[in-house]
Amino acid sequence: MLDIQAEINQQERALKKALSTAQTEDALEKVRINYLGRNGHIANLMKSLKNLSVDQKREFGPKLNAFKQAAEQSLAEKKHGIFKSQLRAQHEENRNFDVTAYEPNQKFGSLHIYTHIIEQLSNIFMSMGYDIVDGPELETDYYNFEALNIPADHPARDHHDTFWVSDNLLLRTHTSPVQIRSIENSDLPIAVFAPGRVYRNEALDASHEFNFMQGECLYIDKKISLSNLLATAQAFLQAFFGKDDLKIRVRPGFFPFVEPGLEIDASCPFCSNGCSTCKKTGWIELLGAGLVHPNVLKCSGIDPEIYSGFAFGFGIERLAMIKYGIDDIRLFHSSKIEFLDQF
Ligand code: PHE
Repeated sequence: MLDIQAEINQQERALKKALSTAQTEDALEKVRINYLGRNGHIANLMKSLKNLSVDQKREFGPKLNAFKQAAEQSLAEKKHGIFKSQLRAQHEENRNFDVTAYEPNQKFGSLHIYTHIIEQLSNIFMSMGYDIVDGPELETDYYNFEALNIPADHPARDHHDTFWVSDNLLLRTHTSPVQIRSIENSDLPIAVFAPGRVYRNEALDASHEFNFMQGECLYIDKKISLSNLLATAQAFLQAFFGKDDLKIRVRPGFFPFVEPGLEIDASCPFCSNGCSTCKKTGWIELLGAGLVHPNVLKCSGIDPEIYSGFAFGFGIERLAMIKYGIDDIRLFHSSKIEFLDQF
């Protein structure tokens, strides 16, 4: 009887010692097997109970069970302790990382070409005193057509291969609706530049996307004339292509929301006598433009007898393609690293 008690006391002390020396999960697992395993010390003590009398069983049975439970709990606590000190060691190690260390073949991200171009365009217009504005891509018939002097039965609607979402809602086919929204939201005079995404239901090829970007410039004040439009368009294109001697020429163009309407070409920034970019003509077609139509001003509550304005718009990809010699518009949405890396 005394032997069992002495045995329990001794195993308790030994377990305590074993736990205090175990520093790793592996060492702890060995302690567990030694004491709580199928042939461990505690199991052996349990087995020896069967040789004892009924009274002794009644006395030592519960004592052994208590020892077993205490052993399980100490092991669990120790396991938690080891886990915590491992975490601490890891943090310590991380603190010694050299974050400036050079790793060969490291890939760095870069800004998307859209971000670069829109920043360049916005900087040019801001330097001329314009505000940068935007409008919704999901538009109503009113802003995309009606207020721009394109009523429901107007043939000009055919040129806009529109993605209709419902009878009245569409994905905007140009950035010109931002002209109307700007007039409604600001006091006169107005000078805004609106870059943004537009949608047209077109078949894809190297120069057509169904989802592309346009930039829109609008200036309304007293006494605005064609000269202001031409001077602004030329200054803008000279700044964008970085060519002080870039010239412009105009041809008649038709857009229902301007009168007169113009197409503005720039002299080729790359050659003086014909190259592949200008298709050997020396000129590149770049802007749709004109003086804001009196109907547009009237529709938005501006008196065309007092105020006048100009507007021009362009394809952002087209400008970027010419500037950087990109030959396929589909590259802009391709996510090709070899393409994106260059900007
Ligand atoms: N919105 C016209 C288009 O998409 C371009 C344009 C803008 C023309 C402003 C004149 C004035 O083709």
